Amino acid sequence: MKYTLFIISLLWIPHLGVAQDIDAAIRFTEKQATLQLEETRRLQAGGKVSPRTLDAKGQLVLVAPGDWTSGFFPGVLWQLYHFTKDVKWMEAAREATEKLEKEQYNGRTHDMGFKMYCSYGKGYEYTGDTAYRNVIIRSAQTLITRFNPVVGCIRSWDHNRDKWEFPVIIDNMLNLELLFAATRLTGDSTFYRIAVTHANTTLKNHFRPDGSTYHVVDYDPETGAVKHRHTHQGYSHESTWARGQAWALYGYTMAYRETGNPDYLQKALDVAEWLHQRLPADGVPYWDFDAPDIPDAPRDASAAAVMASALYELDAYAPQKSKLRERADHILKSLLTAYTAPAGTHAGFTLLHSTGHKPVESEVDVPLIYADYYLLEALDRKKEKGK
Ligand code: GLY
Repeated sequence: MKYTLFIISLLWIPHLGVAQDIDAAIRFTEKQATLQLEETRRLQAGGKVSPRTLDAKGQLVLVAPGDWTSGFFPGVLWQLYHFTKDVKWMEAAREATEKLEKEQYNGRTHDMGFKMYCSYGKGYEYTGDTAYRNVIIRSAQTLITRFNPVVGCIRSWDHNRDKWEFPVIIDNMLNLELLFAATRLTGDSTFYRIAVTHANTTLKNHFRPDGSTYHVVDYDPETGAVKHRHTHQGYSHESTWARGQAWALYGYTMAYRETGNPDYLQKALDVAEWLHQRLPADGVPYWDFDAPDIPDAPRDASAAAVMASALYELDAYAPQKSKLRERADHILKSLLTAYTAPAGTHAGFTLLHSTGHKPVESEVDVPLIYADYYLLEALDRKKEKGK
């Protein structure tokens, strides 16, 4: 492991230049993904199609299309196709994407954007395939069946009905990207209006005055009143769950891109500043900013990857010369020098040290497919914006 980290560290020596740094990181990710694709094809059975993490024995864990993470592996493959233009990645991406097709009709979850926009959305962006366009539109139509106009939000979860009546989680901001795309593709503003209403309601109710987020806001579906502000994956109701804060940064950066609403930009900038004050020196958060055992608490590299990707985009919208790009570079450099798997190991994951759901000790300090997805997106944005 140390040898791999040393090699990758060398790739950040300034004289090599930004483009070469990025290309080296992409080549490393491509090699890992080659192994992951082989492992996935070998293990696919019983409707399990997409890699999510590793189990305690180090074996690849695959999930069914209905799992919220099913779209990230197809998204990794599409991004590799985008970077390399190698048709083998397009073929693999198509194969992985099309396994999710029936999810376009699954109205039992809010995770439609994660599943379908990271897979079909990326596929449509890179191929223009009209069959993919139709799946995106149908997925958006299904997602908006979960919108309640009294609350002004899309319902997130159907589970834990004893605890919550109409739970909305900060993560749900990411699913709005699918709705904005559906309005662009159809000209029907319904999707756009629902996305904006959801973003406005979340802006009002999910944030504390200091810019940190609650994970779950539970609403009364009859009146729209806030009943609870809770956590599910964080340390406590009043703590700040790291990935939730990352979703907030990403969500309002994307919502600003899609709407031009300055309130969204200001919220994204406030969250970025909050993160700057609270992130540890290497820029990779502990799983919860208020975890009681910091500095011994597990990290969440997935949250760091989401933050880096969002910061590269936000930098372009920041009103004057900001330090956001430098902050994104710092996170990315940490991830690529101290959080990567040794080449040819960990069933082809690139990033280690992510945390899924610590309160139930699930997926603690493991590789997670969405960390790799957002890492690649961050590399792409760094490359694009470096031109
Ligand atoms: N959206 C689920 C998670 O971030 O764990």
